[in-house]
Amino acid sequence: MKKQHRIALAVVSAAVLAAGCAALPGSVDIGRRTAEVVQASFRAEGPVQLDRLVQDDTNKECSEADAAGKPLAEERAKALEAANMKQVQWPAGDRFLGDWKVGEEIAQNGRGLTWIDDAKVPNGGNCYNCHQISKQEIAFGTLGPSLYQYGKLRGVKDPASPEARAIVQYTWGKIWNAKAYNACSLMPRFGHRILDEQQVRDLMALLLDPHSPVNE
Ligand code: HEC
Repeated sequence: MKKQHRIALAVVSAAVLAAGCAALPGSVDIGRRTAEVVQASFRAEGPVQLDRLVQDDTNKECSEADAAGKPLAEERAKALEAANMKQVQWPAGDRFLGDWKVGEEIAQNGRGLTWIDDAKVPNGGNCYNCHQISKQEIAFGTLGPSLYQYGKLRGVKDPASPEARAIVQYTWGKIWNAKAYNACSLMPRFGHRILDEQQVRDLMALLLDPHSPVNE
C-alpha cells in the first residue's frame, strides 16, 4: 500500500472509531464492552478483590465528565464533596499529630494494594510520587503541588494551638479523603482502606511539625 493510502485509511479508521465512541445507533456500547473486557481479564488475588472494578458515584461521575471533556457541573461537585466529607474519620482523642520520622518513611513507601502484596503488611502512602515534600528527597513527581514548607508557609508554629486548628483539620481531611474538598481530585483517598489512623498522624507531623525537615 502506498504511504498516502495508508494515511488516508488511518484517518478514516480514526473517524469511524470516534463515531463509534459517540454511540451511533446500533453500534456497540464501547463503555459496556470495555467493562466486559476488563472484567474478563482481571483476577481477584491477595489484597486485590473484584470490588476494585466497581466505581463509586464520585469516580463514575468524574470519569464521565472527563471523557466528555468538560468539568463536572458545580452542584454535582458540591454534592459529591459533601458525601466524601461524611466519610472522613476524625482522629480518636483529637490527636492529629504523630512522628514525622515515621511519616517520612510512609511518604517514601509505595508498596501495597497489588496482587503480590501481603495484606497484613501496612501500605505505604507513595506521596513523593506526586509531591515534593522534604528538600532532602530529590526524586518526586509533580502531579500535585509542592508540600515543602507546608506548615511554615501557612504560619503554623504550634500545631496544637487554636490558631492552627483550621489548617490542621483541613490537612487531616485532605489526606483522609481528598475528594471531600475537590470532587475530581487526582489524589487517592487514603482513609479508604489505604492508610490507618496512626499512619495519617505520622504524615500530618511530617507536614506540620515545626521540627520536621519539611518546615526547617
Ligand atoms: C496520584 C497523585 C497524588 C498522590 C499519590 C498524593 N497526592 Fe496529595 N495531591 C495531589 C493533587 C493533584 C493535589 C492538588 C489537587 C487537590 O487539591 O486535590 C494534592 C493535594 C494535596 C494536599 C493539599 C495541598 C494544599 O495546599 O491544599 C495535601 C496536604 C496533600 N496532597 C498531601 C498528600 C499526602 C500526605 C500524600 C501521601 C499520603 C499525597 N498527598 C499523595 C495528588 C496526589
